[in-house]
Amino acid sequence: KASLHTEHFGSSIVYKKKVTSTQEVAHELARNEAEEGTVVVAETQYKGKGRMNREWHSPSGTGLWFSLIVRPDIIPQKAPQLTLMTAVAVTEGVMEATGIQAQIKWPNDILIDGKKIAGILTEMQSEPDRVQAIIIGIGLNINQQVEHFPEELLPKATSLALENDGVTYQRAVVISAILKRLEQWYLHYLQHGFKEVRERWESLAVTIGRQIKATTMKETVSGVAEGITEDGVLLLKKQDGTIEYIYSADID
Ligand code: BTN
Repeated sequence: KASLHTEHFGSSIVYKKKVTSTQEVAHELARNEAEEGTVVVAETQYKGKGRMNREWHSPSGTGLWFSLIVRPDIIPQKAPQLTLMTAVAVTEGVMEATGIQAQIKWPNDILIDGKKIAGILTEMQSEPDRVQAIIIGIGLNINQQVEHFPEELLPKATSLALENDGVTYQRAVVISAILKRLEQWYLHYLQHGFKEVRERWESLAVTIGRQIKATTMKETVSGVAEGITEDGVLLLKKQDGTIEYIYSADID
């Protein structure tokens, strides 16, 4: 805590050795009026949650598994903007703490050298027209070595240590850099809106301008990723020139 360079993110930190998921714990705290900026960190999660109902592998002591509670005064439809904002903050925080170049893959995977280093899951508690709390979950691989990864993940996942010749990092330094960026961008977003967040997101994104394949629940669509909308929807320009809106998909 002493090493955090933030005003209110992380001013309350709930540290757990072992939980189902820090998202679950944070949801419960948020329902009980936990204040904005509360952070839940766990050493390990045995039911870590990823996007699209996937499982998130969270081995003990090697990564950062945490959830942040925010309470922006926005309508629920705007919540995805905070997911993109988080991707920007995590990417910048990682680069600041390690000096390693990182990029964003739509919607919110963080990549180093084309491999996934971090994932973001945002969930919401809301009334029909007002957000009550957004729980921002961040999972970041830090000190895993090759043997920590299941074989099938090795071609597409990595850790900061693996990208640094096996040399490990202090997790506190990395989380503090990320929370600092998150708080800066959040305050900027509340004051000035989404415009600059979106521009920064697009400048950090590998996806934009590329020929990609988007696999949705229904089908696979190919085209050039043109950009994102205000709401974070991906615009895909197909061969015939028409634009497809991609709300949720895996990108290759
Ligand atoms: C993804 O699928 O890429 C998102 C992964 C999000 C994982 C983090 S780890 C901390 C928080 N608690 C969870 O159960 N999930 C998120």
